[in-house]
Amino acid sequence: MEIKLSSEISEAGAESCEIGAGGPCGYVIFGASGDLTHRKLLPAVFSLFRTKRVPEEFFVVGFARSKMDDTAFRLRVKDSLRQADGNIPESEVENFAARCFYVAGGYDLDDGYKQLQRVAEELDQKYNTGGNFVFHLATPPSLYATIVSGLARNKLVGKHQNNAPYHRVIVEKPFGHDFDSANSLNRELLEHLSEDQIFRIDHYLGKETVQNILMFRFANRLFEPVWNSQHIDHVQITVAEELGVEGRAGYFEQTGLLRDMFQNHMLQLAALVGMEPPVDLSADSVRDEKVKFMKSIRPFDMDSLDKQLVRGQYGTGKSGELPLKAYREEEGVAPASCTETYFAMKLLVDNSCWKDVPFYLRAGKRLEKKQTRIAVIFKQVPHCMFARKSFVVTPDPNVLVFDIQPQQRISLLFQAKVPGARICLTPLNMSFDYREIYGPKMDEDYSTLILDCMLGDQTLYWRKDGVETSWKLLSPVLKKWEACSQAEKNSMLELYAAGSRGPEGGNALIEKDDRAWIAS
Ligand code: BG6
Repeated sequence: MEIKLSSEISEAGAESCEIGAGGPCGYVIFGASGDLTHRKLLPAVFSLFRTKRVPEEFFVVGFARSKMDDTAFRLRVKDSLRQADGNIPESEVENFAARCFYVAGGYDLDDGYKQLQRVAEELDQKYNTGGNFVFHLATPPSLYATIVSGLARNKLVGKHQNNAPYHRVIVEKPFGHDFDSANSLNRELLEHLSEDQIFRIDHYLGKETVQNILMFRFANRLFEPVWNSQHIDHVQITVAEELGVEGRAGYFEQTGLLRDMFQNHMLQLAALVGMEPPVDLSADSVRDEKVKFMKSIRPFDMDSLDKQLVRGQYGTGKSGELPLKAYREEEGVAPASCTETYFAMKLLVDNSCWKDVPFYLRAGKRLEKKQTRIAVIFKQVPHCMFARKSFVVTPDPNVLVFDIQPQQRISLLFQAKVPGARICLTPLNMSFDYREIYGPKMDEDYSTLILDCMLGDQTLYWRKDGVETSWKLLSPVLKKWEACSQAEKNSMLELYAAGSRGPEGGNALIEKDDRAWIAS
């Protein structure tokens, strides 16, 4: 067999991009007048339609409380597509908008569902979609159970039967706000749907760079043999955002960053690094391994939580010369709010692969810059034979970095000789950049996930037991915090300047273990 050393852009494995792969279906958005629909969902389904990954047998229905007719909804659709990409030809925008429809209704009243049922039936005939429906719930989570039971009462969904058209429901995060609420939401949804009809979305799993972690680990021989506590010193996961709460204070005040980022996106990233190889790439095999990993995470020690978890909140600050507001000054935030906008934590994993290998996680809003990064830090070489001859006594360890966004690259830090007569080592970087190879247009997390739902592939979606396991881990921490007085909370919450690198406590957490965050 000939092995080529050059990188070639391979078209292989692109089945999910095949023309018409999504198959005929009607896509119904609940919360159609909301921000998520406008910013993400409409551009995502348009991209599927435009690239013909969904066929002509396809239509969109928006459902929300706001009174609007099809024409007004189409104006919004067009606006959303143009904002997402100013270069789309008008004819394509018009063509897509023409297959978008709108139904106004209360989420808890049958009138709206009945109207939806009539419209859906008519459109199903007109577009020949074979009775297949995806219902995307982009509403506040408190409405999920109400909507699913409204759909079920009005025969728009029912438990799936073999060979019948499909009715799938995509549920946005947060899925519950603690273990008990997630559990009861699961029960309520499962009254009307079976597990294979529930698609609990986590948009991080749709990112190409995140999906690639599995391929990188399991399709290459090189790394898996050293992917364990014998060779890895620790793992770092950083999700830093430059943005603050951006008009979402109502949601964020109830949520906080631990719920918003840790319980879902960051645990998924940790699981992708920490899971054992699945037996195959089927949805259940992959999710079995992820859940196994999450179950192995040692529960937080409630008696010394401060050694493991740092919470912060942004105060006033600057971005260049531009003054930035404190979190407590943002519109809709209580002036004495103790909601965390930053956290750093240390997790330990109780299994033989990761024994004594800490996973350090940190996330924050209103930081210096946006950066989502996973770094795997290897141990030092067992014996450094260069120690006496070189200037470097202990060479830096190898570091494998997955930059998820905004850079999309994988790099490996390794030691090399500096040219010259003396033996002098220096760390160098071997790096692969997605955009350089595949071009700039790869940010299609929602398109990937919605298409997977149409295909019935749940690999990139949370399963019931995964959600419950993640909440089981976090809920005691949330409960303890909620039981604290305002004064106690204030004393545990470290303020950091907006636009900075976060609170000192975040550094101290890792530095006390003689380690440091990997800088850019
Ligand atoms: C969302 C969170 O799930 O992810 C937001 O609710 C956060 O608070 C966002 O800003 C970050 O997503 P991305 O893709 O920009 O990293």
